[in-house]
Amino acid sequence: MKRTSRLLAVLLCLNTATAFAQDAHLHDAAHAPGRDGRAVLELDPAERVMILEEMRMFLDGVQNMTAALGRQDMQGTADAARGMGMKMVHEVPPALRDKLPLEFRQLGFSVHREFDQIALDAEGLKDVSYSLNQLSATLQKCVSCHARFQIQAPVLNDKH
Ligand code: HEC
Repeated sequence: MKRTSRLLAVLLCLNTATAFAQDAHLHDAAHAPGRDGRAVLELDPAERVMILEEMRMFLDGVQNMTAALGRQDMQGTADAARGMGMKMVHEVPPALRDKLPLEFRQLGFSVHREFDQIALDAEGLKDVSYSLNQLSATLQKCVSCHARFQIQAPVLNDKH
């Protein structure tokens, strides 16, 4: 009797695990290229966290920069832009770098380089609309990278 209930419990667990796996599968399928067209970067959970942190710093920087432009504060604009420049590129662990497609790395680098240029021009030209046009062109690169790539990390496995 005891044995039977233990067996039942195991079966129930297996069943739940299968349901989980199916769920995860459905989730994957919803993001698979062809559904929304974006290429999948398969990363470890920690690598995903690292990239998303950098992304949130970008958004924060863009917010600071537009606030400074609204005040016509060109030094503030330059400082915000420089914060998103090449100095933001910290040592990317080789294991992560190897997983990132060349196109992804090139887009990332060019965004950082452009922010350094925006900083120089904000200081040199002190022209709000010029800086806004530069920002808009750079934001276009954020848009195209987001349209092309997504990150998937085995979050479920991480919990077990
Ligand atoms: C080289 C590619 C690339 C560039 C350039 C890029 N991003 Fe991202 N970004 C990504 C990817 C990939 C994700 C994860 C998307 C996903 O998995 O659905 C992401 C996610 C984000 C997120 C969500 C963060 C979170 O915590 O979920 C924000 C915000 C973001 N990016 C802002 C920006 C901004 C602002 C710029 C430009 C200044 C930018 N990104 C440039 C690739 C890029």
